[in-house]
Amino acid sequence: MPSLLTRRAFLETGAIAAGALLMPPRARATPLERRIPMSGESLPAVGLGTWQVFDVAGNAAELAQARETLKVFVEEGARVVDSSPMYGSSESVTGQLAAELGVQSKLFVATKVWTTGRQAGIRQMEESMAKLRVGRIDLMQVHNLVDVGTHLGTLREWKAAGRIRYIGVTHYHAGAHADLEKLVRTGGLDFVQVNYSLAEPDAERRLLPAAVDAGVAVLVNRPFAEGAMFHRTSGKPVPDWARDAGCASWAQFFLKWILAQPAVTCVIPGTRNPKHVADNLGAASGPLPDAAMRRRMSEHFASL
Ligand SMILES: NC(=O)c1ccc[n+]([C@@H]2O[C@H](COP(=O)([O-])OP(=O)(O)OC[C@H]3O[C@@H](n4cnc5c(N)ncnc54)[C@H](OP(=O)(O)O)[C@@H]3O)[C@@H](O)[C@H]2O)c1
Repeated sequence: MPSLLTRRAFLETGAIAAGALLMPPRARATPLERRIPMSGESLPAVGLGTWQVFDVAGNAAELAQARETLKVFVEEGARVVDSSPMYGSSESVTGQLAAELGVQSKLFVATKVWTTGRQAGIRQMEESMAKLRVGRIDLMQVHNLVDVGTHLGTLREWKAAGRIRYIGVTHYHAGAHADLEKLVRTGGLDFVQVNYSLAEPDAERRLLPAAVDAGVAVLVNRPFAEGAMFHRTSGKPVPDWARDAGCASWAQFFLKWILAQPAVTCVIPGTRNPKHVADNLGAASGPLPDAAMRRRMSEHFASL
């Protein structure tokens, strides 16, 4: 049954997140989940991005790394995988590996349409379904708002026909947040995907509150600013106060800061490294920082 996440529920969720602070690190039995406001369906709050990292068709060693990464990902109870026809062979690699591992039914598959024109969009989405080896896409998004008016029309039709379950739009740059906000408020979307991190926090000023108001789920891309945030922390230890708060690594420091924002439904760090995927999924366990701790984390990151 559809249930809209109202501002009140948003505040209550925030209270739950803050309450998690009082729990010892191992108190949460299952990884953190968040609800999709439009449906009430729960999703694990840490997913997997495939840009560049799963574009490995034809390279046996890299394909094996991607297979192990997806295996660990599903074993740890995660589900959301994000791809795009823009990402080279990533869609077909994801489809191939999910079939080989027998985990297709466990995944929540998100991909995108990235072309101009209605017929070209339809052709591309059909190709994506074949590459991903699914009869239905969980989430279809308009990539970088390319020809968004045209594709949203098709997406609504496909959703009504049961070919896709949820529809959304994406961008990766703050310059597009105003356009995303307009669509979030008026576009009948289920999801918006946007860049949000300690290095790129702009979305929290207007876009994330708008998503909460409109009952739109939020996927977070570029949580490590494409990996650049690790250059800032290279050779520097995670401070003891952050370790005491459950951040066992810099990746968890960055991801927990994002997950403590209750508007966020799922964050999708990109990796083909099985150790990194396990590290990232670790951010979905244990306490989340409260407002004061998030401020301290921002200040510390800015000082690096
Ligand atoms: N407009 C759009 O729709 C859009 C735009 C950008 C991104 N996206 C989506 O969002 C996903 C995430 O964004 P992104 O891939 O650009 O950047 P990101 O997730 O911010 O960073 C990825 C980088 O972080 C490294 N990394 C991941 N986990 C790590 C860990 N635990 N420790 C150390 N390094 C780690 C990865 O290297 P390793 O491989 O070595 O782990 C990779 O180089 C994309 O894959 C894509 O699915 C969508």
